[in-house]
Amino acid sequence: MPSPRLRSKCDGRKCIPGKRGGRRPFYLSQGDECDVFEAAYANGLPVLLKGPTGCGKTRFVAHMAARLGRKLYTVACHDDLAAADLIGRYLLKGGETVWVDGPLTRAVREGAICYLDEVVEARKDVTVVLHPLTDDRRTLPIDRTSEELAAAPGFMLVASYNPGYQNILKTLKPSTRQRFISLEFDFPAPKLETEVVAEESGLDRERVAALVRLAGKLRALKGQDLEEGVSTRLVVYAATLIAQGMPVERAIRAAMIEPLTDDEDVKRGLLDLVTAVFG
Ligand SMILES: Nc1ncnc2c1ncn2[C@@H]1O[C@H](COP(=O)(O)OP(=O)(O)OP(=O)(O)O)[C@@H](O)[C@H]1O
Ligand SMILES: [Mg+2]
Repeated sequence: MPSPRLRSKCDGRKCIPGKRGGRRPFYLSQGDECDVFEAAYANGLPVLLKGPTGCGKTRFVAHMAARLGRKLYTVACHDDLAAADLIGRYLLKGGETVWVDGPLTRAVREGAICYLDEVVEARKDVTVVLHPLTDDRRTLPIDRTSEELAAAPGFMLVASYNPGYQNILKTLKPSTRQRFISLEFDFPAPKLETEVVAEESGLDRERVAALVRLAGKLRALKGQDLEEGVSTRLVVYAATLIAQGMPVERAIRAAMIEPLTDDEDVKRGLLDLVTAVFG
């Protein structure tokens, strides 16, 4: 558990103006993750976020980037993503061949935050490129232009993945994993999740609390009937539909039951849980 001193620093803080004058994306901290992230940033260390789908990883990075006043480049990794997609390539423009930086190179030059979502999906040649950037060298070698780019102050590499549903072969090599400060994410505790869902959806806390109770019961089925528990994202969806006037049961079915399974028997079991919570 995070220490109370660290918890108090940003716990429960809502959107307040970011350094660039805009509003920070709303993020309610679950512990000391904001402080650890800030410390990593201050020391030029890369951060790896691990956690189930829809638990707030992307929102956290958006919030921290705004809070630190850094531009954010996000790349969704997939098994077709080549190193050139991150670094850049020569392109033909008006009859001329010009070099165009990829998002990673732009972030390195500008001192921005580069966020690699689902990094385990990336090909080996991509992870290899990250190595000199994620140790004390903090450089990006660009073979095609023969540049060895030193990361500008403020540059930070953040990566995330969901350890739950990954193929066992698709895990990060220790030599990659051990270059990052790691933060483990999970769904927020009921009180915090109620705050998050109420803030995001506009639904009253009493009705949100019942949805969060249901979410807890659905999550308890992970590993038995369900591959993954229901995400905070889906609870926000359900609450949003209810706030718009949709009947509670219809909204729950559409947002919290159907996205979890295609198995009719399992769905019936889940609907029994809905009845148990909502009567
Ligand atoms: N702590 C939080 N503070 C504010 N909003 C949150 C928080 N946790 C979850 N959310 C809500 O949940 C939604 C989903 O979160 P997010 O997209 O960050 O999940 P994720 O962990 O990146 O999921 P994935 O692994 O699928 O990309 C957000 O859009 C936001 O509405
Ligand atoms: Mg995400």
